[in-house]
Amino acid sequence: MSGINNIVILTGAGVSAESGIDTFRDAGGLWEQHRVEDVATPEAFARDPDLVLRFYDMRRAAIQTKRPNAAHEALARLDAAWPGELLIVTQNVDDLHERAGAKRLIHIHGEHLNAWCTACDARSRWTGTLIERPACPACGAAGMLRPDVVWFGEMPYRMDEIYAALNRADLFVSIGTSGAVYPAAGFVREARQSGARTLELNMEPSQGSHWFDAARHGSAGALVPAWVDEVLGQ
Ligand code: OAD
Repeated sequence: MSGINNIVILTGAGVSAESGIDTFRDAGGLWEQHRVEDVATPEAFARDPDLVLRFYDMRRAAIQTKRPNAAHEALARLDAAWPGELLIVTQNVDDLHERAGAKRLIHIHGEHLNAWCTACDARSRWTGTLIERPACPACGAAGMLRPDVVWFGEMPYRMDEIYAALNRADLFVSIGTSGAVYPAAGFVREARQSGARTLELNMEPSQGSHWFDAARHGSAGALVPAWVDEVLGQ
């Protein structure tokens, strides 16, 4: 693709929808089944830790039964083949991008398969449950592990690296996100200000759709492989 060297790709729940993982804001989505204030804030965890731990234990178990879809696989193919700079910033806490093989990846909202020790600050890979208050594998403290997931009111991860990449980007592509949650929803404007071209691939126009130079609407499983083929000139 001419004139493009640095690519930043933002992904959201729509990229994992065809793998069978519920999105948040679609009909029947997670935030229709659960109140954000009950399960996804530090206050909720302080008030009712069992409810919050059980919710994330169920989600952690569920994602391990899912598989990457054609969109994850196409992005991993692009990551492996693209000779310039590339960064996939995902809001998703599942591990489907990396299971598909993506390497240049940042989880801005954390990862289901990590437990975070609030005593020693270590992150440990965690595939089981936290409800029984297991000891931290790093420091041995009991009852101090929480899901390594960014809750509302908490700071997303690795923002400096992400803004630096956005400022160098020639192309910014947003895939499968409603554009409802900041700071990720503001990335398109940041990239535009640096002169990047911007493209949205989503089932429907996102809340920030008007900020994009171009948009294609449909399923990520169809749109993303076709777009990757174009970028790689195949
Ligand atoms: P949302 O559920 O808000 O939006 C998902 C978007 O994907 C919607 O615009 C859908 O139209 C679109 N979509 C659904 N199925 C699709 C498909 N098969 N192909 C393409 N697009 C599809 O999810 P996010 O935007 O990821 O944060 O949500 C952002 C953040 O809000 C999440 O990371 C999470 C949530 O609260 C935290 O928990 C901190």
